[in-house]
Amino acid sequence: MDDRIVSSELKEEDLFEKSIRPEKLDEYVGQNEIKENLRVFIKAAKMRNEPLDHVLLYGPPGLGKTTLAHIIANELGVNLRTASGPAIEKSGDLAAILSNLEPGDVLFIDEIHRMPSFIEEILYPAMEDFEIDLMIGGGDGKSKSIKINLPPFTLVGATTRAGDLSSPLRDRFGIVSKLEYYTYEELKNIVIRSGRVFDIKVEEDAAMELAKRSRKTPRVANRLFRRVRDFALVEGTGVIDMEITKKALKRLKVDDSGLDNIDREYLTSLIEKFNGGPVGVETIATSIGEEVTTVEDVVEPYLLQEGFIKRTRSGRIATEKAYRSLGIVYNMGLFDGD
Ligand SMILES: Nc1ncnc2c1ncn2[C@@H]1O[C@H](COP(=O)(O)OP(=O)(O)OP(=O)(O)O)[C@@H](O)[C@H]1O
Ligand SMILES: [Mg+2]
Repeated sequence: MDDRIVSSELKEEDLFEKSIRPEKLDEYVGQNEIKENLRVFIKAAKMRNEPLDHVLLYGPPGLGKTTLAHIIANELGVNLRTASGPAIEKSGDLAAILSNLEPGDVLFIDEIHRMPSFIEEILYPAMEDFEIDLMIGGGDGKSKSIKINLPPFTLVGATTRAGDLSSPLRDRFGIVSKLEYYTYEELKNIVIRSGRVFDIKVEEDAAMELAKRSRKTPRVANRLFRRVRDFALVEGTGVIDMEITKKALKRLKVDDSGLDNIDREYLTSLIEKFNGGPVGVETIATSIGEEVTTVEDVVEPYLLQEGFIKRTRSGRIATEKAYRSLGIVYNMGLFDGD
């Protein structure tokens, strides 16, 4: 995953994230339907002086789930507590988190699909009735169950895989929102906003160029912005214009199809090693040395959405668009059409 623009977590990135993350719904670009609905639900919850209903956010990495969780807490004017599904290992961990909430708080559980199922079950009564049942060992060797009342709170869960959530858990979210890939126009605005935050001028055509090469994903757009900003500073005029953008993108080996290295490896493998498919996702993942979950959660959603691949019962197949993007002649037999 080394040279993937979509992944590697860096310290510089963390600092950047902190300063760039929008804090209000108004600053959050795109996802208009989700935004307008949340605006209403948040306002209503405040008018009734009740916690907001539980919210499930799902969609591919980098589209703004964590950002939105922060915004929800902000707009409600409450604290945000964060936890990560796989990190909650014992029922006591979750009980401690829940019982330390203040009334109205937002508890954000990232990667909620990776929570162990016995922990998940603790959440059910917590979400429904704001209480938990804990089994504790009594002095006589028998364990007994005690009920703990919780302050009313809002659970915001985020996942890249809504399908992996058990239905009892999914059903307990009153608000379920799927984040979509962004349009170029929206990404352009995100890049221009980043320029404003970091006090560097970004020309409109340059912002659009970055937008088009960002896999329709704000995280990628911001990463490219960061790198191009370096080039502008060191080798340019201090302004992000088209010239320095093109130069930087070339040096970063980001091509104009908007695909990144792993996307291209995936498609090259599918086409050259497996004749365009159909082939199973495990086989492709192995052939490019990636985890199956990475391929399924990060790589494929974009390739599917953009029509580079198709998912069939017998496996993945490359479309004509995939061949074209790699400059390979599409030579599909007369009878092989889908
Ligand atoms: N709608 C938006 N407007 C402006 N910036 C955004 C928006 N959505 C995301 N960003 C920026 O994109 C980056 C990634 O967003 P975020 O971390 O919220 O994604 P995520 O969906 O939580 O990803 P993951 O699934 O990997 O946790 C952040 O820098 C954030 O500031
Ligand atoms: Mg996140």
